[in-house]
Amino acid sequence: MFYEPRMNNHGLPHDPFKSCVTPRPIGWISTISVDGISNLAPYSQFQNLTFDPPYVMFAANQNTAGRRKDSVVNAEQTGEFVYNMATFDLREAVNISAQEVPLEVDEFEMSGVTKTPSRLVKAYRVAESPVQFECRYHQTVRLPGNGKMGTTDVVIGEVLGIHIKDEFILPDGKLDILKIKPLARLGYYDYTIVESVFEMVIPGINEDLRAGMEGASKKVR
Ligand SMILES: Cc1cc2nc3c(=O)[nH]c(=O)nc-3n(C[C@H](O)[C@H](O)[C@H](O)COP(=O)(O)O)c2cc1C
Repeated sequence: MFYEPRMNNHGLPHDPFKSCVTPRPIGWISTISVDGISNLAPYSQFQNLTFDPPYVMFAANQNTAGRRKDSVVNAEQTGEFVYNMATFDLREAVNISAQEVPLEVDEFEMSGVTKTPSRLVKAYRVAESPVQFECRYHQTVRLPGNGKMGTTDVVIGEVLGIHIKDEFILPDGKLDILKIKPLARLGYYDYTIVESVFEMVIPGINEDLRAGMEGASKKVR
């Protein structure tokens, strides 16, 4: 089949677009408002962008009232945000934190997770999450869109600090992804978790490309 999103002529009972780029990791983004209220929300329009130095992004559509989302407002006004890794064990809290509630509501409390202080930024981290990045806001790229929710704020931040729980580091020094069970979106209301891992190395790979693949900034410099 072929369809043009601008015509919406896919002919299927459910729009397939979000299911065509999967699985999408969920950036569980925590921020703090200028008034000191904590905000927490999942973003599956989330990715790492580069590794030396590391940058990440989340893309927030406008809310159902057609306004910028609290995560975006807070990140811009305070210059900071935190990425918390979403996992299968935390799935219910992730889902609860997606509710659209007023800025005055502390969404850590609402979703029943524990605040733990960051080292370099004011926004709290989710204590239960196995991996967290403390990020400095870099830039917002605003993509124009249709209707009240279509416009998107792509928020980019530089990763200043990385926390990894020791219990999720294997004896060989790699992250124990099978134990972490990262949560990912499949479109619709469907999710998946990582349950298997296999390894592949690019044939004839040179040392620089190897360092890039590994995100090994020390080796590339
Ligand atoms: C798993 C999951 C992924 C989501 N991904 C996105 C996303 O990528 N972009 C977006 O705008 N909203 C996304 N949402 C909805 C937001 O989390 C929701 O609008 C939230 O209220 C935003 O909170 P905020 O206004 O406090 O920033 C997602 C919801 C869930 C449950």
